[in-house]
Amino acid sequence: MDSHQRIVIALDVGDIGAAEALVTQLQPVVGMFKIGKQLFTAAGPAAVDMVRSHGADVFLDLKWHDIPNTVAAACSAAAQLGVRMVNVHASGGREMLSAARAALDRHPGAERPELLAVTVLTSLAASDLAEVGVADPPANQVLRLAALSLAVGADGLVCSPQEVADLRAAHGPEPTLVVPGVRPEWFAANDQRRAATPAVALGDGADYLVIGRPITRSGDPVAAARRVAAELQPVGRSA
Ligand code: C5P
Repeated sequence: MDSHQRIVIALDVGDIGAAEALVTQLQPVVGMFKIGKQLFTAAGPAAVDMVRSHGADVFLDLKWHDIPNTVAAACSAAAQLGVRMVNVHASGGREMLSAARAALDRHPGAERPELLAVTVLTSLAASDLAEVGVADPPANQVLRLAALSLAVGADGLVCSPQEVADLRAAHGPEPTLVVPGVRPEWFAANDQRRAATPAVALGDGADYLVIGRPITRSGDPVAAARRVAAELQPVGRSA
């Protein structure tokens, strides 16, 4: 895979016009676009159609967590939209995860979307987990939920730069690891604490790097994306 194809742009904007302006510029120089709760709530499936009309793939980042039947129905609906990746919260449990996978497997099209699991949100500290009844340290909970997710049908995981090496070591080359929270050295960290550079995350085993503001808020998003891709090139993971 070319290094630029590993870049997933977070379309964290409030309307479809702003999203399309980014897609038009960036589609030739990145691999995929992530549509999250903000844009999907504002613009709905039209946002997915817009990205696909530019010939680009969509990671639909809605992090579903509900009863198995409801999550399975959402997965089917996403498959019909033609997205490339969807995600669910691993803490929804075994039945929810396998219902999600089964729903995607029933998709009749050429390729079903990949199913990614989110383990522990990086915004949660040990004290937050303790408050909701999880006494284990966050790192243990990440490994536990990752193992469960992959055992029951997830194709991969969304994980932080701090977790990627351990997850790759524990689960080998197969799972798709999608890593947000990366920051090039030349960009301010914003609210991303403990960020790694894209090249370090790739070297640790990431398949895809989710990048928003360092590219989308740059004065020249195309130049910023090219700069990130160039920094990834020497790392050159071959899969
Ligand atoms: O602008 P920035 O590069 O920080 O955007 C990163 C994207 O990845 C956002 O859409 C954010 O919601 C998402 N994300 C994150 N950190 C996580 C999980 C997801 O920044 N731990």
